[in-house]
Amino acid sequence: MTHNVLVLPGDGIGPEIIAEAVKVLEACKQKFGLDLTIDSALLGGAAIDATGSPLPEDTMAKAKASDAILLGAVGGPKWDTLDMAIRPEKGLLGIRSGLALFGNLRPAILYPQLAAASTLKPEVVSGLDILIVRELTGGIYFGQPRGVRTLDTGERQGYNTYVYSESEIRRIGKVAFEAARARNGKLCSVDKANVLEVTVLWREIMESMAKDYPDVELSHMYVDNAAMQLVRAPKQFDVLVTGNMFGDILSDAAAMLTGSIGMLPSASLDANGKGMYEPCHGSAPDIAGENKANPLATILSAAMMLRYSLGEGAVADAIEEAVSSVLDQGLRTLDIASDGCQIVGTESMGEAVVSALISG
Ligand code: IPM
Ligand code: MG
Repeated sequence: MTHNVLVLPGDGIGPEIIAEAVKVLEACKQKFGLDLTIDSALLGGAAIDATGSPLPEDTMAKAKASDAILLGAVGGPKWDTLDMAIRPEKGLLGIRSGLALFGNLRPAILYPQLAAASTLKPEVVSGLDILIVRELTGGIYFGQPRGVRTLDTGERQGYNTYVYSESEIRRIGKVAFEAARARNGKLCSVDKANVLEVTVLWREIMESMAKDYPDVELSHMYVDNAAMQLVRAPKQFDVLVTGNMFGDILSDAAAMLTGSIGMLPSASLDANGKGMYEPCHGSAPDIAGENKANPLATILSAAMMLRYSLGEGAVADAIEEAVSSVLDQGLRTLDIASDGCQIVGTESMGEAVVSALISG
């Protein structure tokens, strides 16, 4: 069966890192006879420049028709002054929501070769393997009403709405409980139930689901404490489940435990396992076009795509092994550099993964 993949390079370093991931996918076709077509479309700032919209209809139509999507990153200072409704980030949120990709899996795994790249002590992070399950199409990111209004006093007031319905909580709960079941059976639900009613409901629903998963040990933690525990003793966690905004914040923190956010892939899945795959990092406009960005998070996202949406687990394993092997060779992009390693650019890193894959 032919797999139809859509790539959305996006902005900033997006096109550079996607180019390397595409090279790796092409190498997989060659080496494993992987039957895959790759089309591309515009999203974010690149789409605004070409069409005026951050999520053109053509992109949405191609996304719907594809089997899986691989995304680079969106956004940059060039578009920061635009109205909120037509900013690059709206394109990203629009495609997540339009495809109902509510289940965001953000694994934070420390490659042993990178223990020295973390800002935390090696003993705190060595062997780290946690999974953040972030709700991606609800919560305060999408809640209505929202906006900036002018009060009777003439003062302006910004407002957003933090909402979760029971069914939204249940469906992300299911993803998280099942992920925990397939891993080490520990699930920590993160909320702010000491202050926010919406998360009181969140906690209640998670608690009520626990009886259907007697093999999973459920605990709850307030988000402020979770942030602290992530940097104090991250290995206490197996799977974390949380809402959209808390998940955004905690996943950046978790990423840094692994040495660099440049290493972390992610999957955003709908109820049927169709998904969009993207690195957790952003578009890094400060280094765009300089051949400095780390392509590994995107390459690892392509591996996740093969495993979760395309049923090509063996090819995914081969890509992950190739990444591990280039790290063994001592090759490092700037973000993961440490003493005694060889600094390489985006392209050389991608090519090294291709070589490792071909010869592996
Ligand atoms: C992420 C990003 C996005 C988010 C931005 C770019 C809209 O930070 O994927 O974590 O907040 O979800
Ligand atoms: Mg983020």
